[in-house]
Amino acid sequence: MPVNYQPIGVFDSGYGGLTIFRELLKELPEYDYLYLGDNARNPYGNRSFEVVYEYTWQAVSQLFERGCRLVVLACNTASAKALRNIQQKELPAFYPDRRVLGVIRPSVEMIPEMTKTGHVGILGTVGTVLSDSYPLEIAKVSPFSPITVVQEACPMWVPIVENNLIESPGAAYFVQQNLASLFSKDPRIDTIILGCTHYPLLSGLISKYLPVGVHLLDQGPVVAGKLKDYLFRHPEMEEVCSKSGGREYLTTESTRNFDQLANLFLGKSVVSQHIKLG
Ligand code: DGL
Repeated sequence: MPVNYQPIGVFDSGYGGLTIFRELLKELPEYDYLYLGDNARNPYGNRSFEVVYEYTWQAVSQLFERGCRLVVLACNTASAKALRNIQQKELPAFYPDRRVLGVIRPSVEMIPEMTKTGHVGILGTVGTVLSDSYPLEIAKVSPFSPITVVQEACPMWVPIVENNLIESPGAAYFVQQNLASLFSKDPRIDTIILGCTHYPLLSGLISKYLPVGVHLLDQGPVVAGKLKDYLFRHPEMEEVCSKSGGREYLTTESTRNFDQLANLFLGKSVVSQHIKLG
């Protein structure tokens, strides 16, 4: 690797972060990137706060050791359960010149202009829903006209994506069931955040069962646009991110599986390397 190789790190528990990654590549193709999927320990969605924090910090540290100065947590569960502590404790103590960004805040900032009814639905993992990160962050961006936020945990959706069962009857069953449950809690919802980076891979199916006129917020393009803006506002970080168009992929599971599925999700072939975390 060249001495000044400092890629942007992109982390997810598995394949879901590729939905963010492909948008970063479209919006900001000139940078070097290092993607890490913790496929061996996925899903994170049902794990405790402590475990998600530990795994996420191990992954971020690994990306730092490999030269990243900036890491994007392309995972809602990790953003909900680990980001704040990493930003407030680990970075000041151990890596004061590095930055870690998440996906929740950028998504939430879009909400006030998207909803007309003021009723918003969140679809996410059990961990993201229980953390209440979305309702708390939405309340902060719209303090004077409160938005009603209703959440639905969809614990089967990540295993469906990770096992490439997107076209299966089981996928249709669970998507339909969770959407019906969300709308039974609040029929006035007009905007839904896909609050898990795996879910855009099911968006064809989701749209099929969505009431007419309800908008879906897909995080990939939003996060990519906000990252561009962040780099513009932080030239000191922008300058140290290397720009030779490199892409590298790391997985904690079998590289053969990763390469096959990543290819499907990214639309291009990928050669990953296996690493161990922890
Ligand atoms: N893709 C992740 C998210 O955005 C997590 C999925 C999981 O590992 O449960 O929440």
